[in-house]
Amino acid sequence: MEQKNILITGGCGFIGSNFIKFINHDKNNIIVVDKLTYAGKLENIEDINCIFYQNDIGDAKIFDIIKKHKIDILVNFAAETHVDNSIDNPSIFIETNVNSTFSLIKTCLKYQKEQNNSFKFIHISTDEVFGDLELNDHTKFNENTPYNPSSPYSASKAAIDLIIKSYIKTFNFNAIILNCSNNFGPNQLKEKLIPKTIENCLNNVPIPVYGNGLNIRDWIFVDDFCQGIYLAMTKGKIGQSYCFGANNERTNIDIINYICGQILKKLGKNCKNLINFVEDRKGHDKKYAIDFSKATHELGFIPKISFEKGMDITIENMIKFAH
Ligand SMILES: NC(=O)c1ccc[n+]([C@@H]2O[C@H](COP(=O)([O-])OP(=O)(O)OC[C@H]3O[C@@H](n4cnc5c(N)ncnc54)[C@H](O)[C@@H]3O)[C@@H](O)[C@H]2O)c1
Repeated sequence: MEQKNILITGGCGFIGSNFIKFINHDKNNIIVVDKLTYAGKLENIEDINCIFYQNDIGDAKIFDIIKKHKIDILVNFAAETHVDNSIDNPSIFIETNVNSTFSLIKTCLKYQKEQNNSFKFIHISTDEVFGDLELNDHTKFNENTPYNPSSPYSASKAAIDLIIKSYIKTFNFNAIILNCSNNFGPNQLKEKLIPKTIENCLNNVPIPVYGNGLNIRDWIFVDDFCQGIYLAMTKGKIGQSYCFGANNERTNIDIINYICGQILKKLGKNCKNLINFVEDRKGHDKKYAIDFSKATHELGFIPKISFEKGMDITIENMIKFAH
């Protein structure tokens, strides 16, 4: 790809910071905007040559930043992302994921028109917008699956996806939407299942398991999703949605048992006695499974990192930083 000016919003969070590292070698000019909520950490991008602005994506100043740096592509990761928080406090999810993101979209459309349309908006969304599947259902979500979100988090993500789709159709907004399954890897916040389980194992803290632990998610190592985002950014068709996953469908309890097994192998520590079944999450989605064949056929996307390899990198990384 020829050199581009790329604005990454939410770049100090988990996937955003991994994506910045992924594209850093390409000699692009990278500009990062992040509000630095509890989920954003400047140290996640400290080794990266980029320009950083601490701003809300809904702030009017974003227009000046986009203009000043002659942005060619904006990749939007900024969001409130933890389902449990959305159940405890839905308002901030509507504020950030709908209202602030809508402001960003209006800003970007104005800039796109001023630039005679040479601008692209890549929106990072989730497979949770599709709702859930029954545990024994072997169908998978794809780009044509109707939206049917369950939590305030997924509803806020669904709302803004639909607004972006309307902007594509009504105003020719140059956007691409990416709906991905559960990511894991370095820099993920400790509130999420995999890092929380590893951390609790390392610190001898009980590992909470919602309900019976049999809920299923399709886990993708973050570098594989970064590869998918890069492909969508460089080869994706404007106006399209692409689904991403890795065919790694596992129950939550399998994930926890797997981590306990790896900790036993690596550190000789038995953590299975820390497993603690707790009351189920309200409205807990049973199963997500994703058909990413459109991304494979149109973009050449193939996940490259096995679940085992990704878990090894993630666990080793957390052990290293725990010492
Ligand atoms: N983590 C997953 O498994 C997963 C899966 C599919 C899709 N997604 C989507 O990917 C995106 C990134 O997820 P993540 O896990 O990296 O999230 P994260 O919570 O780790 O990071 C979110 C980042 O956004 C920033 N932010 C929040 N509100 C902001 C605002 N108003 N203005 C500017 N910055 C703001 C935070 O400071 C933080 O750096 C989200 O849109 C999420 O919905 C995540």
